[in-house]
Amino acid sequence: MLVNASEMLKKAKAGHYAVGQFNINNLEWTKAILLTAQENNSPVILGVSEGAGKYMAGYKTVVGMVKGMMEELNITVPVALHLDHGSYDGCLKCVEAGFTSIMFDGSHYPIEENVAKTKELVKICAEHGMSLEAEVGSIGGEEDGVVGMGECADPQECKMVADLGIDFLAAGIGNIHGKYPANWQGLSFETLDAIQQLTGDMPLVLHGGTGIPADMIKKAISLGVSKINVNTECQLAFADATRKYIEEGKDQQGKGYDPRKLLAPGFEAIKATVKEKMELFGSVGKA
Ligand code: 13P
Repeated sequence: MLVNASEMLKKAKAGHYAVGQFNINNLEWTKAILLTAQENNSPVILGVSEGAGKYMAGYKTVVGMVKGMMEELNITVPVALHLDHGSYDGCLKCVEAGFTSIMFDGSHYPIEENVAKTKELVKICAEHGMSLEAEVGSIGGEEDGVVGMGECADPQECKMVADLGIDFLAAGIGNIHGKYPANWQGLSFETLDAIQQLTGDMPLVLHGGTGIPADMIKKAISLGVSKINVNTECQLAFADATRKYIEEGKDQQGKGYDPRKLLAPGFEAIKATVKEKMELFGSVGKA
């Protein structure tokens, strides 16, 4: 069932588990994630970055693919279709295209501007029955070969944004997108704890789920994280499995070049990764 992410994350926060947001890049990704969610009776959030939206020929294409696939595959678990790190204009486009959830990433604006824009989107989302994620404190990651360490959000600013009527909040706690560097300091649980103390029942979002050790994930969930975003890990699993297939020369045996065969190991690798994350996050059986 295509729904917004509000209820599933309220339930997750109350039940002390997290729902995974898995980013999609194409049909294989989408099918692998939807099937794994259904097989594990887990709610799931399909994340679409602006870049991936463009790659998949626009948000309307994505909505059509997801809706059609859910119907044809009989997907009955709750699924949210969510814009990841949206600009203000990107958010408006996804509202129009039929997404059920959006993230407005105003973390690079001065806090007043982040608040003002987030407030406008709260109104728009309410009119459309959509859920809204906001961000405070930018999440680092690799840009042009330089790995930014990831900020720790100011808990007071988190409270200010949480009070605007958003549904869930992404706050930087030293997490970054992509692989973590060897000298990474780990998540700041002190910051997370301070944020949760001030924001109460608000479900908190942990970005950069790839490569965070299991014990840190569990501790973050115990401190109020109810949504965890994973992207790079599925990409790495897909690439590794595909490389193995080609290195073993399987694309040159019989009809091994057929994309339905060539992409199958990567598809299975995404399924295995998503299942493992759902087990770790505790969302299995929670649909
Ligand atoms: P990773 O690519 O590090 O898993 O991060 C995903 C993410 O946070 C998407 O918003």
